[in-house]
Amino acid sequence: MRITDTSDLWWKTAVVYCLDVETFMDWNDDGCGDFEGLAQRLDYLAELGVTCLWLMPFYPTADVDDGYDITDFYGVDPRLGTHGDLVEVVRTANDRGMRVIADLVVNHTSNKHPWFRAAESSVDSPFRDFYVWRADPPPDTSSEVVFPDKENSIWQLSETTGEWYLHRFYKQQPDLNVTDPTVRDEIAKAMGFWLELGLSGFRMDAVPFLLETSGTDKAEARRLPDPHEFLRQLRSFVGRRTGSGVLLGEVNLAHPQQAEFFGGENGNELTMLFDFISMQSLYLSLARADAGPLADALTARPPVSPDSQWATFVRNHDELTLDKLSDEEREEVFAAFGPDPDMQVYGRGLRRRLPPMLDGDPRRIRMVYSLLFSLPGTPVLFYGEEIGMGEDLALDGRMAVRTPMQWTSAPNGGFSRAPKRQLRRPVVTGGYGPEHVNVADQRTDPDSLLSFMKLLIRRYRECPELGWGEFELLPQPHADVLAHQCRWEDGTMVGVHNLGAEARTVPLTLKDCDSTHRLEDLLQDGSTPLSDKGKAELRLDGYGYRWLRVVSDDSRRLA
Ligand code: NOJ
Repeated sequence: MRITDTSDLWWKTAVVYCLDVETFMDWNDDGCGDFEGLAQRLDYLAELGVTCLWLMPFYPTADVDDGYDITDFYGVDPRLGTHGDLVEVVRTANDRGMRVIADLVVNHTSNKHPWFRAAESSVDSPFRDFYVWRADPPPDTSSEVVFPDKENSIWQLSETTGEWYLHRFYKQQPDLNVTDPTVRDEIAKAMGFWLELGLSGFRMDAVPFLLETSGTDKAEARRLPDPHEFLRQLRSFVGRRTGSGVLLGEVNLAHPQQAEFFGGENGNELTMLFDFISMQSLYLSLARADAGPLADALTARPPVSPDSQWATFVRNHDELTLDKLSDEEREEVFAAFGPDPDMQVYGRGLRRRLPPMLDGDPRRIRMVYSLLFSLPGTPVLFYGEEIGMGEDLALDGRMAVRTPMQWTSAPNGGFSRAPKRQLRRPVVTGGYGPEHVNVADQRTDPDSLLSFMKLLIRRYRECPELGWGEFELLPQPHADVLAHQCRWEDGTMVGVHNLGAEARTVPLTLKDCDSTHRLEDLLQDGSTPLSDKGKAELRLDGYGYRWLRVVSDDSRRLA
């Protein structure tokens, strides 16, 4: 391994930033964000240190699921701009050192998609097999629905033909049938189109559901003996077309099953997977002030190919799902961070952003982001996290966390100059409103959360061992302290995080180190000598955090 490998496998040390064009920046004053607005904000994102933008769905949509119900896989929602505007964004982002990936939502289409319109018109339609149908009345599938507030079955009767179609999500999102070779070709063709326009890959939506074939006709399922073969084909297609494009998969499954979606140690399926298990364990750890659950999750990650990568995150655009915790554990997290039933959703998650969950305590918020960026993997931010935005519980369901980006303290948070009532979604009001939380104020304040995030991102990028290295826990006498190291080549980064309110003295013993080594602080000034047995003691405030680089006397690395 050489430092230059970090450019080939760029995703292993990337900083990913997820945004929805429609809520990011409105440049034509119509109340809806647009590509022109995003273009104006690319320098901000580059300055933050982002290296990869993840665009939430920007395609034409029936808008039942905030763009995740697509009516044209080749289009751009005209409210956001044109293909030309998108290409300008991609090109400018590239110039600023950022790649762009986009949501690929191919488990389903909208029921308004021309394919489905044709498919439901007749059993003889050439598009009929693009979807999954059953002629006999379905059994009770109420326990299998993803959105239990709106659905009670994964089958919906289509009146025209008297048959039922499969929909894992809303009934307006019929599932595509990937056992049909034409559907598989269409998916690859759409991917090829966007790659040709300059995208560097995709965030693949709902991958386990996409590969799932149990609802399909047995004969059809036999035509696709191993759905993972389809994923392998898509991965090699992206590789052939771009050389370095990635597939970042949404696979909320237990670690051993996630390993299968990486393609095991061959690493020939999804390039990256969100580590949902560690994310959920993080919240349990925070609720208990006990590093144990997070430590257990991180050490239980299965071995994967050196080319593969875990994507780490604190929040995303969906509910903070806690579905992989036990009922008791989930209740603990609910009690700590969202006791009001209105803060909870689907019986499994929270529809809140991090700062309000932590009562706005800046020490805890910073500690959590310090932890995120110091964990082995590639960090993914959801827009607004860098300035500590809050949620709007008055909005429906998951929309609570999808409010407009807060740029200034001006009306509409500087997101749009349209009249307030015309905004695509209201701006947050109250203590987390733009008067108190906005980019403009924080940019000029060296003590702001934004300035702190920039520092974390800069240090993360300076420590490729975080993306590439071998992770190891450093044993602790304190349950509330997580101490870990990432080692790669001649670089070792040590992170210590105090999840509790009590100050702690943290003893460390570092293997293969002696008094010719020292620990250089990376987030503050300071250096700590190591004993001839590689030991040191570090002081941590309540909710304190430190990043330390192990430096040997003869190291040529820039400190
Ligand atoms: C996962 C996406 O993150 C979510 O927002 C969407 O509703 C479902 N997939 C369906 O596409």
